[in-house]
Amino acid sequence: MTATAAVTIDGPAGAGKTTVGRQLAAALGRPLLDTGLLYRALAVIARRRGVGPQDRDAAAHLARTLAITVATEAHPAPGAALVRVDGEDITWALWDEDQAERLSGLAALPAVRAALLEPQRRLGEGAVVVGRDAGSVVFPDAPCKLYLDASPEVRAARRAAELRGRDAATDPARVGRGVQVRDRLDRSRALAPLAVPAGAHVIATDGLTVGEVLAAALAACRAHGLGG
Ligand code: C5P
Repeated sequence: MTATAAVTIDGPAGAGKTTVGRQLAAALGRPLLDTGLLYRALAVIARRRGVGPQDRDAAAHLARTLAITVATEAHPAPGAALVRVDGEDITWALWDEDQAERLSGLAALPAVRAALLEPQRRLGEGAVVVGRDAGSVVFPDAPCKLYLDASPEVRAARRAAELRGRDAATDPARVGRGVQVRDRLDRSRALAPLAVPAGAHVIATDGLTVGEVLAAALAACRAHGLGG
């Protein structure tokens, strides 16, 4: 039998997937897999080693050989390591929007996506899985699929607020540009582009609080017999 996630949540950067995913996972008593962490971890190490999207073989080699571990607790302890690569905690380096082009460029490479498929399926079994192609490619048989969307302005503002929480020096304009670059690349790539999976519940989150989005997500889960 192939692995199946309980719930997949796809959508563009800054739509609120991770925030809502974390709360939904806690409410359902499930683990949470944020698949973006795997792509981010790869990009951090690729940058360190001078590997860009044009270095296809080196990027694929890194994706196949790095030992990336990601936390899957819905509520990790504050300050806990979310991601380790070959044992090193690299959590602090994950959210640099200046690396948007490298990040989405690496994620567009078919060999990189193929290498990261197995860890996603292993870690995401029975979990709430957040990503770009979680419901379309990674877990096409998931019983409940969600797609969160929001306008570009709202998404840039949310991402900037999230990053400011970690680093007060964050420049909102720079963050907005990074989000735009990733959006363009994530939607236009040939393999597994960001798209609404067949059968997904689309939640337009502009003007909604996190609590309201969570309520809509839980209602969708209940319609599929999840969450009581
Ligand atoms: O979800 P997050 O914004 O952290 O993802 C960072 C980047 O990783 C995305 O912009 C995308 O290029 C890539 N990604 C992907 N497929 C996923 C998750 C993330 O291509 N399932």
